Amino acid sequence: MKLPNGPQAPSFIQMFQFIVNPLSVLEKCAKRYGDIYTLNLKSPVVFISNPQALQHILTNDTKDFSVPSEGNKPFEPLMGKHSVIMASGNAHRRQRQLLMPSFHGDRIRCYGEVINRVTSQIMSQWEVGKQFSVRDGMQAITMRVIMQAVFGIYEGDRATELEKLLGSMLDAGGSSPLKAAFLIFPVLQKDLGAKSYWGNFLRERERVYQLLNDEIEERRASPDDSRTDVLSMLMAARDENGEAMTNVELSDELMTLLTAGHETTATALTWALYWIHKFPEVREKLLAELDNLNENTDFSTINKLPYLNAVCNETLRIYPVGILLFQRKVEKPVSLCGHDLEPGTLLYGSIYSVHQREDLYPEPKKFKPERFLERQFSPYEFIPFGGGARRCIGMALAQLEMKLILTKILKNLDLDLIDNGEIKPQRRGLVTGPNRPIQMLVKGKRAVNRSLETVG
Ligand code: HEM
Repeated sequence: MKLPNGPQAPSFIQMFQFIVNPLSVLEKCAKRYGDIYTLNLKSPVVFISNPQALQHILTNDTKDFSVPSEGNKPFEPLMGKHSVIMASGNAHRRQRQLLMPSFHGDRIRCYGEVINRVTSQIMSQWEVGKQFSVRDGMQAITMRVIMQAVFGIYEGDRATELEKLLGSMLDAGGSSPLKAAFLIFPVLQKDLGAKSYWGNFLRERERVYQLLNDEIEERRASPDDSRTDVLSMLMAARDENGEAMTNVELSDELMTLLTAGHETTATALTWALYWIHKFPEVREKLLAELDNLNENTDFSTINKLPYLNAVCNETLRIYPVGILLFQRKVEKPVSLCGHDLEPGTLLYGSIYSVHQREDLYPEPKKFKPERFLERQFSPYEFIPFGGGARRCIGMALAQLEMKLILTKILKNLDLDLIDNGEIKPQRRGLVTGPNRPIQMLVKGKRAVNRSLETVG
């Protein structure tokens, strides 16, 4: 089968380069081969960054293409084999149907209160005149928000331990390019004792599953029909044979939401605060919009603020947290960008390369929120949350979180970057993030109108 051209280096070299510096590989290949090319990563995979071709794939996701789970294997150690991310075909559709209602508009709006409360709690730990780590702060907020969505009101020793272990596991699970290799190559996943890298990860994971199991057992012992959190909805669900989900199935789904749901949003927020403070004119324009909010401003109004929306979109465009769509497989012969692809061909939509297209985003390396005010981009030109059958389940929650958290922080605090130097993206496990820690100084509290308290 003739595949589109691509680099000719041996597979292990291509794989190594892709693990160490995926963005540079995507950039070089897009420059050299254009909208479609083949990389040999364990096996050949066709990369695509043409919006029309992506539209074709994402609108025919379950007809001409499938969403195979094999490509998602690196997620398995973190999320388990029963995760929605590991499911394909009908099982995948069913799992999504179970999860989606918890992340729809009405439910999401209920999380607004939680987001503001948690942001206030974390912000109160940042003292005037002192520095704080932006990532740690953002992770603490998004972790608590997702715990609340997943478990409902959730406090106490078990919640605290779970939060701590999840943070540590995600770090161990690949916060640097080389750590990511442990997730990508199963051969490295050897338990060499509690002090070894993978051994420690396994022990933490076992403890997390124990805690999740305890929570599930406790709820089975004293059911409460009034609860509307994700875990309660999953526990009440029955399959076509009337069977409920087992504890392991429930735990894998919870792990998926807890991990996919906080690290991603925390990274996006870390970038947003960096950009906003790197360019004073962006911050001023944003504050002009935010300071107009009055006491009665509700969450859905904040969600629709044009400049805030543009800043969040530009943050997700320039360095998207997820740089690729999940893998797709061609099921029926198809022609994409002038190439005939046969069934069995594996595809990756390249989110990063689409977002870096000069024809869509002139001067793509520049942070320019205005581009989102000047024109509308189609869902195949701007795709930070993917699309089609695997579109991000947490998209609406993540967008609301970004907007409410930024509003709260910017209205209340006068912050400054400790180091205004350039920060580049790099691989962080299976996603990407800033290549070095970002520290901020709390210069002071902003004297703003009372509306702040009600926005919070
Ligand atoms: C800024 C934050 C986030 C970004 C950039 C992001 C991005 C993505 C992307 C690119 C995909 C793959 C879509 C595809 O292949 O078409 C995805 C899938 C997914 N996301 Fe997110 N995500 C974010 C936040 C969240 C949150 C808050 C949750 C949890 C509630 C979540 C849960 C998921 C799940 C479960 C999937 C897999 C869906 C499936 O396999 O059907 N994400 N996300």
